[in-house]
Amino acid sequence: MTAAKTFSRVAVVGCGWMGGQIARVYAAAGLTVHLVDSDPAAVERTRASLGRWSSQVIEAGLDEIEEVKFVQEAVFEDMQAKQDLFAELGRRLAPDVVLATNTSGINISEIAARCREPARVLGVHWVSPAYVIPVVEVIPGPQTAPGVVDASCSFLRAIGKRPVVCRREIPGFLVNRIKEVLVNEALELVAGGYASAEDVDAVVRWAIAPRLALWGPLRAQDLQSNKKTVAAVARYLYEKTGDARFRPPRLLEEAVAAGHLGIASGRGYYSYEGLDKETLLRYRDQSLVAILAYLEGRDDDAFWRGPA
Ligand SMILES: NC(=O)c1ccc[n+]([C@@H]2O[C@H](COP(=O)([O-])OP(=O)(O)OC[C@H]3O[C@@H](n4cnc5c(N)ncnc54)[C@H](O)[C@@H]3O)[C@@H](O)[C@H]2O)c1
Repeated sequence: MTAAKTFSRVAVVGCGWMGGQIARVYAAAGLTVHLVDSDPAAVERTRASLGRWSSQVIEAGLDEIEEVKFVQEAVFEDMQAKQDLFAELGRRLAPDVVLATNTSGINISEIAARCREPARVLGVHWVSPAYVIPVVEVIPGPQTAPGVVDASCSFLRAIGKRPVVCRREIPGFLVNRIKEVLVNEALELVAGGYASAEDVDAVVRWAIAPRLALWGPLRAQDLQSNKKTVAAVARYLYEKTGDARFRPPRLLEEAVAAGHLGIASGRGYYSYEGLDKETLLRYRDQSLVAILAYLEGRDDDAFWRGPA
């Protein structure tokens, strides 16, 4: 049986902003989706937004979802609300029903604290708009069974998503921790009067983000500079600011000590052995030219100026 088949019938509990988007992904994948919300208007809005997939939706109460094998919770980001709900789901549903929370960053163990069989509770955290963004974070708590993580990842792959596993729970998980560091610093720079909002956005759009989109931060660093230089910049920044956010990361220092300097040495955080350096640099540059040409061609600024 395929994973999608295993969870051919799912429930979404909490049909607001995110629950509605997640329901759309499940329905578009051909699953039967039970919609549960304490506010009937939220269920109606979600059903109406599903268009041709609305026939796959069943409006339900918590007492009408015994047949589902996978519950996706997306209620308010409120500890008490989530704990109460998971306690109730635990009481009502068979122990093999997977209970997934869309929390943006609350520890899974806390949400599962009063749930019977916490081994079946995990985070399945979507990024808005859920029907567009491919990554879904999967977060086990300390008590989550490995089989529940594997089954959830297979299920998400089968419906066309790219699951990433945050192996141990940590507040904010992966997406929000990485994103918040960048966005918070951007806001601080604007608030401090160091640059305009437009120039801060321009730095990210035209210098940083194209590399991140192509390779992510780790490989981007491998491809960009010799890590000795990167470490020197990091140490200076830390010395000057004393700010823990800028402390040179352990993995950077270890890479420098081991001589894993990036493509300069054939190895950084990743290995480039067997790849010709000139070919690699050409590929890097062509990739950047392609993504920048795409961005240049969009005339985004004109769109944000609005109709003339
Ligand atoms: N908004 C985002 O971009 C985003 C992104 C990722 C994750 N999340 C997470 O998704 C969850 C939902 O966020 P949202 O922005 O969709 O909230 P929202 O306020 O739009 O929707 C929450 C819905 O849950 C319903 N609800 C509340 N308690 C309930 C209960 N006990 N039983 C049934 N329904 C209940 C409400 O009526 C409402 O329709 C939160 O945990 C949030 O952190 C949000």
